Amino acid sequence: MPKITIAIDGYSSTGKSTVARQLAEWLEYVYVDSGAMYRAVTLYALRNNLVSYSEFKKEELIDSLEEIRLEFRKNKDGKAEMYLNGENVEKEIRTLEVSEFVSIIATVPEVRRKLVKLQHAMGEGKGVVMDGRDIGTVVFPNADLKIFMNASADVRARRRYEELSQRGDQITFEEVFNNVTERDHIDTNRKDSPLKKADDAIEIDNSETNIEDQFHTILQLAKDRIAGRVKRS
Ligand code: CDP
Repeated sequence: MPKITIAIDGYSSTGKSTVARQLAEWLEYVYVDSGAMYRAVTLYALRNNLVSYSEFKKEELIDSLEEIRLEFRKNKDGKAEMYLNGENVEKEIRTLEVSEFVSIIATVPEVRRKLVKLQHAMGEGKGVVMDGRDIGTVVFPNADLKIFMNASADVRARRRYEELSQRGDQITFEEVFNNVTERDHIDTNRKDSPLKKADDAIEIDNSETNIEDQFHTILQLAKDRIAGRVKRS
C-alpha cells in the first residue's frame, strides 16, 4: 500500500489532534502534533523569563533557539509525548498559561522556520498525519489529503474547558473561551503562515458530530486517497 501525507488544520480546540491520532493509529502512520512543538518553545520562553504579560524578549528567544531541543518519544501506551531538552513536558505544555503565550511565540518567523524544518524531517516520505495551523499551506503543500476543521467558538471552548477541568486545572469557562478566541485572532492575522484553509482542503464543521462519526468520515477520505494512489501507480 502506498503511504500518504495527511494534513489537518483548523481553529483552536476543534479536535484536530483527536482525529489525527485515531487516523495515525488505524493506518499505522506517524502522528505529529505540531502545536505541541510551539507549546514546548513557549514553555522554554516562560521558564527563562523571555516572555511575560509585560514584555517579550524576542531577540533573546531567537538567540536561544539553538539551545532548544525538541523530540517526541512514545510512552508505554504508545502515545507520543513531547520532550524539551530531554525532559517530558507533555503535561506542562497543555496549561492555560502556555496557551496564553503560544500564539505570540508562534508569530516569530525564526521559531516557525526551526519547527517547520523539524516537521519536514518527521514526516517526509513516510505515512504521516500532522495537525496544526499551516500544515496544508506551508509544511506539506502537496499533502494527499487536507482537512480543515471548525466548530462554533462556544463548543470549542466548552470541550477545552472540560478537558482542563478534568485534569484538575483551576480555570473558568470564560478564561478558556477568551483564550480560544484570542488565539484564533492572532493565528489568523499573523504575517508569517497565517491560519487559513488551503484551496484544496476539505472543510469539516464538527459542532454537532460525534468523535466516532467524524473519524469514519475522515478515514473514508483517506482510504479513497490511498486507493487513488494505487490506481495511478
Ligand atoms: O489548543 P489547540 O490544540 O487547538 O492548539 P495547538 O494545536 O496545541 O496549537 C497551539 C498554538 O500553536 C496555536 O494556537 C498556534 O498559535 C500555534 N501553532 C502554529 O502556529 N502552527 C502550527 N502548525 C501549530 C500550532
